Amino acid sequence: MQTFHHIIGLRKALEQHRQQGHTIGFVPTMGNLHRAHLALVEQAKSLCDVVVSSIFVNRLQFGLNEDWDKYPRTLKEDTQKLKSVGCDYLFCPDEHEVYPNGMDQQARVIVPSMADVLCGASRPGHFEGVTTVVTKLFNIVQPHKAIFGIKDYQQLAIIRRMVEDLCIPVEIVAGDIVREADGLAMSSRNGFILPAERVHANQLNKSLNWIAEQLIAGASDFYALEQTARQQIEEAGFKVDYLTICESASLLPAASDDSQMTILGAMYTQGARLIDNVSVELG
Ligand code: PAF
Repeated sequence: MQTFHHIIGLRKALEQHRQQGHTIGFVPTMGNLHRAHLALVEQAKSLCDVVVSSIFVNRLQFGLNEDWDKYPRTLKEDTQKLKSVGCDYLFCPDEHEVYPNGMDQQARVIVPSMADVLCGASRPGHFEGVTTVVTKLFNIVQPHKAIFGIKDYQQLAIIRRMVEDLCIPVEIVAGDIVREADGLAMSSRNGFILPAERVHANQLNKSLNWIAEQLIAGASDFYALEQTARQQIEEAGFKVDYLTICESASLLPAASDDSQMTILGAMYTQGARLIDNVSVELG
């Protein structure tokens, strides 16, 4: 695996592949890699001739009170892990390489409405930071396919919309959620869960699954389902940020005749904010 810190070197290397007609797969990350990231790289490898991954802890998508400075930087371990799954190129730029004119002056990419709900409501500006950096990374790498985990469902839906609205010639591919044995979705932030709360940290997943079962069994009072699930999570000792049954593509609150629904939730443990989602197809 070759590592590049600068755009120019990466572009040169990828140009040779393009000339040979190779397809390029891309897995953008913020590092601190775990099994779910590596599964995305493996998926990219199965779909494309060449795989590029990036590691960049993008300050533009962190709020002022968020954990940008304590976000784990584990480049050495990450590099080994990427090598072990056969990643071909790693791009890990510094902030000046990505934002040469500073973040305040940076042109932004905004996906209206979808970015202001759910996680966007409690993390203002977060998705603008994501869509801006992902657009830049797409322009740098110019991949044929880019793989994003379904765990960050809202991010995936917003990036799909962005690519469609801006005619960006990249196919967005979804990567399955990878879970711990008890159902907790793997996340770089799981390391912040306190040992004492870990045993119940799968409650979000349990409650989302419970709603999914009720929907499949024909329940149609969405508000009541959401309220009961919130109560289950609070009884397990956590604070709910949001828990909503949405129409899968638009992320609007689901209507009773929708056939594709996704139940999305976020909760706070003492040490971490966790998100998860479960999708159901009805009728
Ligand atoms: O999902 C992430 O790790 C980040 O939001 C991404 C897509 C790499 C953009 O910084």
